Amino acid sequence: MEFSTQTTASLHQIKTAALAVGVFADGELSAAADIIDRAAGGALRAVLKTEFKAKPDTHLVLRNLEGVMAVRVILIGLGKKNAYKPAAHVNAEFAFARYCADASLAEGVTTLASIECPGSSLHERARAAASAALSAVYRYTETFGKPQDPAPKLKKIALAVARADAAEAQKGLREGRAIGNGMSLTRLLGDLPPNVCTPTYLGNTAKKLAREFKTLKAEVLDQKRIEALKMGSFLSVARGSYEPPAFIVLTHTPAGMTAAQRKDKAPIVLVGKGITFDAGGISIKPAAAMDEMKYDMCGAASVLGTMRAIAELELGREVIGLIAACENLPSGRANKPGDIVTSMSGQTIEILNTDAEGRLVLCDALTYAERFKPAAVIDMATLTGACVIALGHVNTGLFSTDDALAQSLLQAGRETNDPAWRMPLEDAYQKQLQSNFADIANIGGRDAGAVTAACFLSRFTQNYAWAHLDIAGTAWNSGKQKGATGRPVPLLVNYLIAQA
Ligand code: BES
Ligand code: MN
Ligand code: ZN
Repeated sequence: MEFSTQTTASLHQIKTAALAVGVFADGELSAAADIIDRAAGGALRAVLKTEFKAKPDTHLVLRNLEGVMAVRVILIGLGKKNAYKPAAHVNAEFAFARYCADASLAEGVTTLASIECPGSSLHERARAAASAALSAVYRYTETFGKPQDPAPKLKKIALAVARADAAEAQKGLREGRAIGNGMSLTRLLGDLPPNVCTPTYLGNTAKKLAREFKTLKAEVLDQKRIEALKMGSFLSVARGSYEPPAFIVLTHTPAGMTAAQRKDKAPIVLVGKGITFDAGGISIKPAAAMDEMKYDMCGAASVLGTMRAIAELELGREVIGLIAACENLPSGRANKPGDIVTSMSGQTIEILNTDAEGRLVLCDALTYAERFKPAAVIDMATLTGACVIALGHVNTGLFSTDDALAQSLLQAGRETNDPAWRMPLEDAYQKQLQSNFADIANIGGRDAGAVTAACFLSRFTQNYAWAHLDIAGTAWNSGKQKGATGRPVPLLVNYLIAQA
């Protein structure tokens, strides 16, 4: 999709298939709606008095208004003005793009980002407009036998802004497009079935990205090379499946970066959990909703989506994506409760529950990350059901021993409507991971399950600044709207832009 800005005060003279204008529930018109209303002889105020209440997530289509060049004016309900927030703006842009897509329109113009909104800049609103539009046209079509509805035709969205604001809006649109494209990749990988999206498939996706973007370089390590690295913990999980594991290293190096510059700004490493299916292993999961464990590679998918976005942006900072990908299945070769494995770090791990496999694959990836002498390492994982109990589906769980890093990530999430909530990570929880037979146990009991999982990871991250994002509650939606969300790509890309 293409995004551009349109700078004209005479909104009624814009020729477009659809022009979005916002109205508030208290009958107040946005500046753009007011201009259109005057040009159309009070047509907007008239419908606001009668049928349109301008509640959030509602819209009304007005066609062929006298004095207005746009074929359709789409009134977008914004809710009460005093409650208008960045999230309401995102929903409004999403509703408009969705309308355009459903009506088979090829282009539209939105005035919504120009509406002032406490807690956001025009740059952020333009960015949100582009990513929301791309989210609205995402369709999963890969695995249907029967023909589906034709793909949305929407190819162009223009933001109507004041001339003085055009540069800022364009900057936001460019970032929003990259974020939106990254999210679509993340969503697609999540939504694909586990017999298609295997560890090998994730590796091939990384290689494909590296062919598409010249700043990206992909290396996919196979079983033999993972063995040579002594990733005994990761391999113990992979062993239970016929599907070969993959350890993916995807590097973004800005063009023309000198050795001195590289020394100056150490790379940032992203680490993703890539369990392409989690049956639980010998500690097998109950059957209900087990299909959703195809989403257990959403951390990996977020790494790939984020790397795609920063490559599209030609970000001026070196970023390395690491993915440990395998399946977690029961079999005659699978981990057993009581097994003790040796991680790449040399620490031994007693596996008391084979379903706590995410930390077993991540710990070796986190040790591998040391070789880059990183400025920061951020891992993301659908790690614990306990995190969903704690935070639901609103906030990603953020765990970090580094306050500055934690604050930067929280802010990056707030600015992109992709929020995270900081969780505790104190030494007092570590004792739950004591083992009588190894350096550490892989589970810490029912209490504070999301925290003890993070505590486990912290044992492997002593040599750099580190943060962990538990996305178990935010990476996908269940139920009728089942599907991947593309989170936390917006948070991560925004964080990386701030570090560039
Ligand atoms: N992938 C799951 C976590 C998960 C479960 C995410 C449900 C989203 C929804 C993870 O591998 C897992 O099974 N964790 C266990 C840990 C427990 C055995 C300590 C869990 O959360 O139950
Ligand atoms: Mn599991
Ligand atoms: Zn898992």
